[in-house]
Amino acid sequence: MQFFLDTASLDEIAEAVSWGALSGVTTNPSLYARVGSRQANFHEHIRRICALVSGPVSAEVTARETDQMVVQARELAALAANVVVKIPLTLEGLAATRRLSDSGIAVNMTLCFSVPQALLAARAGARYVSPFVGRFDDIGDDGTKQLATIVNALRNYDFNNRNDSGVAGGAVTWLRDDDELKASAPDDPLPNRNSPAQSGCVSDGADHPFAKRSADFGACASSRGIEVIAASIRNPGHVTQAALVGADIATVPFAVLKKCAQHPLTVNGLLAFEKDWEKVKNA
Ligand code: G3P
Repeated sequence: MQFFLDTASLDEIAEAVSWGALSGVTTNPSLYARVGSRQANFHEHIRRICALVSGPVSAEVTARETDQMVVQARELAALAANVVVKIPLTLEGLAATRRLSDSGIAVNMTLCFSVPQALLAARAGARYVSPFVGRFDDIGDDGTKQLATIVNALRNYDFNNRNDSGVAGGAVTWLRDDDELKASAPDDPLPNRNSPAQSGCVSDGADHPFAKRSADFGACASSRGIEVIAASIRNPGHVTQAALVGADIATVPFAVLKKCAQHPLTVNGLLAFEKDWEKVKNA
């Protein structure tokens, strides 16, 4: 499981990068508001985050209507090679995701709270889906149980070729196994599932301006063709559960990431080692 940092704070990102275990960053409008910057500076802020982190950086659209989401998403995707556009899991968001993924832009569908929503995100071509854990706990439900059902449901399917329709100009081809791959008609060439640009994570439209950019992320790490980002993580226990249920990524607030490394028994153990080392020095 990879660790993303769930923040828009440049200081937190720079420090977490220095710890050497960070694979990406996720932001949202609330997190941006927390850094105290203005709307007019949003694009520049995302550029600065992208310069700090080599992995994917999720930047969220604020529009609610499909066309406007697509416009905002294209602007965000043009900011840096490692931008992943965050789109809310609504009907309009699904339509926007389909259009964006068909043109090779990586999408993280956010505010996911159910299995059907996650399946629809995958079908619409999302590269990532973000089920929220803590917000279920907030309403007295079990967030990690909900996360597990989503991971398990997605595990039943292979979404690796979901982007074929937009690029090949033909019908959508949903493949479930290699036999179906071999059985496909030769005049409807299917992408090689092992190539990054054709793994389902990005479009194979090599001449599309975003194709190379998105391909920079390499092949989708998940054999399912969509990666699950456990979001709304509130404590190290959530991180443990996310790993146990097989989430691909946990996006974690700065304070929680720190707590993940700082186990009290590690601290106590170090104190004891230091004390004993002093004894040896003066022996
Ligand atoms: O990535 C989404 C996450 O930031 C939501 O977290 O704590 O606001 O539920 P929270």
